[in-house]
Amino acid sequence: MHADTVRRIFVVGAGTMGSGIAQVAATAGYEVTVVDVDPGQLERARQAIDKSTAKLLEKGRLTPEQREAALNIRYVTDMEAVAQADFCIEAATERVDVKENICRELDARARPEVVLATNTSSIPITRLAAVTQRPDKVIGMHFFNPVPLMSLVEVIRGLQTSDATAELVMELARRMGKTPVEVRDAPGFIANRILMPFINEAIFALQEGLATVEAIDTVAKLGFNHPMGPLALADLIGLDVVLFILEVLHRDLGEDKYRPAPLLRQLVHAGQLGRKTGMGFYDYRENPKGTPRTFR
Ligand code: CAA
Repeated sequence: MHADTVRRIFVVGAGTMGSGIAQVAATAGYEVTVVDVDPGQLERARQAIDKSTAKLLEKGRLTPEQREAALNIRYVTDMEAVAQADFCIEAATERVDVKENICRELDARARPEVVLATNTSSIPITRLAAVTQRPDKVIGMHFFNPVPLMSLVEVIRGLQTSDATAELVMELARRMGKTPVEVRDAPGFIANRILMPFINEAIFALQEGLATVEAIDTVAKLGFNHPMGPLALADLIGLDVVLFILEVLHRDLGEDKYRPAPLLRQLVHAGQLGRKTGMGFYDYRENPKGTPRTFR
């Protein structure tokens, strides 16, 4: 399929990533439908898109027409509508069984020529492709959080992904205003292979009492010019997601350097998953920017 023939994009999964992807696809001029089994999640996505596009309009980064397009996104709970899709992006929970089931279902419902992209941050594309009858049309399209503000898209080819599929996805990413980078299918791809050990090391430093949350993040902000420190970033990504990706790296690359910090595991066990639960390395319950917590 050529990029010019793609008009209707379906995003499966209405979480933070799914809603961000739906937003950038809609403001790029595509007819977008978001599919999620949970109506509450769809409503939260609609509100997030409303808020984000209002802010971007106010800053002159979107036109009124683009905001209107984002407000016209369709939200559905039934996968049947996928038969109308010209392109599908799966952005569901980062769990192998969940993503495999969605890929199977998309494969059964989407027209045979339609490409199925997955926003997985760590599950092998080749593995997801294997549950479909169209492995040449399955590819990784990995966006970054917050999607409307982050320019990068990692494009990951599975073992059987065709050149035509890769070219289509590179072009669609460009049309969504992003810069695509092609990488090979290996645990964590490139971004998380680099980012997760960095975050993990910051958590080890914290649990060893080398410095406070605030001090560690200040080192990264002022010492490396990062817009936010690794602990604040972990809270933004979600500590469950960070732990999951580290476990994939640890298991699949088999090296101790990827061993998740015990403090990270503890926070996940406690249900303190970062911004989304109001508590992580920072406490967001009263201060939306986050108050650094003390760990001992
Ligand atoms: N839509 C629209 N506007 C948004 C937004 C969104 N989704 N998210 C934040 N903003 C706005 C804020 O409202 C704020 O606006 P005002 O200045 O008008 O108040 C503005 O952006 C700046 O935000 P902040 O003042 O809160 O903070 P900031 O200047 O540090 O910018 C940031 C926020 C863009 C998130 C920046 O800190 C940043 O780039 N951080 C790094 C993010 C990063 O590394 N992401 C990758 C994570 S890894 C990943 O996603 C992949 C994976 O597989 C895990």
